[in-house]
Amino acid sequence: MPKPRTAPLPPTCNTPKSSPRRGRYQRYVKAIPMQPMCLTCHGPAEQIPTEVRQALQRSYPHDKATGYQPGMIRGAVSITRPLP
Ligand code: HEC
Repeated sequence: MPKPRTAPLPPTCNTPKSSPRRGRYQRYVKAIPMQPMCLTCHGPAEQIPTEVRQALQRSYPHDKATGYQPGMIRGAVSITRPLP
């Protein structure tokens, strides 16, 4: 398993600055790593199949989310719920 590396956050990522919370919470956070199948669309350009590259170019002409390697962390799922 390659050592996970962080990628720069896209400017569209918003992190809430603060949220006033009282009481006890349970928090679950799980990283979203690049997996081999993700590279079909997010890998280095020369590894993306031609048809996929053309479809991405057509539907997402401003896409910059390529060039990633397996194991790179792309984000996280975060769930926070109040405890009784
Ligand atoms: C079939 C092609 C395809 C595959 C496979 C795919 N993605 Fe994506 N992904 C896209 C496209 C296209 C977008 C841009 C969507 C948009 O702009 O609305 C995107 C957007 C994203 C984004 C948000 C934009 C960014 O890059 O920061 C993340 C994070 C992401 N994908 C992660 C993953 C992960 C992790 C996997 C594998 C589990 C994966 N993707 C598999 C096509 C794909």
